[in-house]
Amino acid sequence: MTPAGPVLAATGLHKTYGPTPALADAGLSVQPGEIVAVMGPSGSGKSTLLHCLAGIVRPDAGSVRYGPHELTTMTDARRSALRRTDFGFVFQFGRLVPELTCLENVALPLRLGGLRRRAAEDRALEWLDRLEAADVRGKRPGEISGGQGQRVAVARALVTTPRVVFADEPTGALDSLNGERVMGLLSRAARDTRAAVVLVTHDARVAAYSDREVVVRDGRTRDLAGVA
Ligand SMILES: Nc1ncnc2c1ncn2[C@@H]1O[C@H](COP(=O)(O)OP(=O)(O)OP(=O)(O)O)[C@@H](O)[C@H]1O
Ligand SMILES: [Mg+2]
Repeated sequence: MTPAGPVLAATGLHKTYGPTPALADAGLSVQPGEIVAVMGPSGSGKSTLLHCLAGIVRPDAGSVRYGPHELTTMTDARRSALRRTDFGFVFQFGRLVPELTCLENVALPLRLGGLRRRAAEDRALEWLDRLEAADVRGKRPGEISGGQGQRVAVARALVTTPRVVFADEPTGALDSLNGERVMGLLSRAARDTRAAVVLVTHDARVAAYSDREVVVRDGRTRDLAGVA
C-alpha cells in the first residue's frame, strides 16, 4: 500500500489568550482513517489544539492544512461550510439540541446540508441503530442517560460520513463501562467509514482505542511513538 499524504497537517501553531500562551509551537499530522489520541494535563492546550485543527479557533501563527485547503487563511464562511460537510464533532457533554428528539438531532446535520426530512431521518435512524441507540429515537436529550446521549452524539457526528471526526473528552462524563462502549462503537464506526479521528482524552483506557498517542504539555506537542 502506498502511504497517502496526511488528511490534516498542522505545524507551528501558536495561540495566546491574554497573557496565557495556550499553544506554543504545537503541531499534529493525521493520516486518512487514523485514530490519534491527544493526551496531557489539564490546561496544557489540548482543546485549543483541537479547535485550531477543526477550524473553530484561528491560531495567532502557524498552518493547518486540510488536503489542499489552508484553514488559517480561509474566510469564516468557507471554514463553516467545510466544517459542516467534512468534519464531525463529539463533545464531552454531547451538546444535543434539547428541543429536538434524538432522531431529529442526528438528522440535523443532513437537514442543514439540504437533505429532505424523510431521507435525513432514514439515514439518521441507520446511524442510531449502528450506535445501538435506536430505542431512544423518539426521546429528547433530557430523557436519556449520559451513555445513550454520547452514542446519539457520535451518530450525529458520523451521519454525514465526515473525513475527520473531532472528539473532546467524548467519554469524560461517563463511567468506565459506558465509556468503553462508546469508544468501541465510535472507533468501529470510524474504521467502517474510513474517517480519521482526533480524540482528546485523559483516560489511558480511552487512548487504547487509538493508533497513536500525542502528548501536549505547556502548549507543545510530542509524539509518543515517533521522534520528539
Ligand atoms: N477562550 C479562552 N479564553 C481564555 N483563556 C483560554 C481560553 N481557552 C483556553 N484558555 C487557556 O488556555 C490554556 C489551554 O486551555 P485548553 O482548554 O486548551 O486546555 P486543555 O488541555 O483542553 O485542558 P482540560 O484538560 O482542562 O480541558 C489554559 O491556560 C486556559 O486557561
Ligand atoms: Mg479541554
